[in-house]
Amino acid sequence: MYNKEQIIAEILSGKSTDVQQEKGAVYAPANIALCKYWGKRDSILNLPMTPSLSISLAQKGSHFAFEVVNEKTDRLHLNGQAVEEQHDFYHRLFSFINLFRSHAQPRLNIHITSTIPIAAGLASSASGFASVVKGLNELYRWQLNCSELSILARLGSGSACRSLWDGFVEWQYGSRDDGMDSLGVPLDYKWPQFRIGLLLASSNKKSISSREAMAITKQTSPFYTLWPQQVATDLMGIKSALAEKDFAAVGQASERNALAMHATMLTATPAIAYSNAQTTAWMHQVWHLREDNMAVYFTQDAGPNLKLLFLEESTEDILQLFPEVEIIAPFPSR
Ligand code: DP6
Repeated sequence: MYNKEQIIAEILSGKSTDVQQEKGAVYAPANIALCKYWGKRDSILNLPMTPSLSISLAQKGSHFAFEVVNEKTDRLHLNGQAVEEQHDFYHRLFSFINLFRSHAQPRLNIHITSTIPIAAGLASSASGFASVVKGLNELYRWQLNCSELSILARLGSGSACRSLWDGFVEWQYGSRDDGMDSLGVPLDYKWPQFRIGLLLASSNKKSISSREAMAITKQTSPFYTLWPQQVATDLMGIKSALAEKDFAAVGQASERNALAMHATMLTATPAIAYSNAQTTAWMHQVWHLREDNMAVYFTQDAGPNLKLLFLEESTEDILQLFPEVEIIAPFPSR
């Protein structure tokens, strides 16, 4: 078993952790998994039980700005509001940053602006930690590449390792105990017509974190033994459907994968149910629309919100049927 410090030392070997740049600003997109990461083989290094595959959300993500300050404590602002030292988020962020620096180093004033609701199952920790490692890469001028940053981001939150790239990204789960082969790899499938529709059933903080929920599921759900096989099938299905631009096949496999993940949670002890009445109503609406031959599917993460999957040609219909939807084009034309 390795600890985070050993992995960081290996990646940063020969690099300095003296501040090189007094201020800077970076950005990382959030990502939504079409084939989910649920369960770890190593909970210190966030090494997953299975591979996973996501799509990055372009302009929805985390802006991270830092400034070196001559003060005794670090300061943190989230969406413009000061976050107190006692706050969980402050603790989680600076415990991570402290893995990379000594006490003698100057403190930081950090501003994180998230363009998606924080901790509502909308993958804000993924873009958050990816943006932090990109920020540290500037602060110390390490000049690490995205693959190295992906490994570092994983140490903060597993799904963050997929947020270093735009478009479709596979998290290759790897087999090494030190996790050096467990990182995001960008996939070469471009699909400008692909759309994601965010449906917020609640923007409240989740009742139980994905970290805790996946640990309970792995330990107690009798269905968890089926999960790795399900992922293998769905991942293969999604990748070949992406290669063929077969939208129905991508949608089917992604929706089934999300439902299978939630089925493992529902059968955990205690049961973990993220859906609320609104979530279920939307699911039924999507299924009815498919009976009427509309190509719309959904995926759901560790929260009650739903993410619709559809193609550009259905935009008008989706806006009419789901007036509250927020539509994201993951491949913006530049
Ligand atoms: C349901 O990456 O938040 O969104 O590694 O413990 O930080 P930790 O977990 P996290 O889990 C994400 C779970 C998920 C599925 C996914 O994004 O693949």
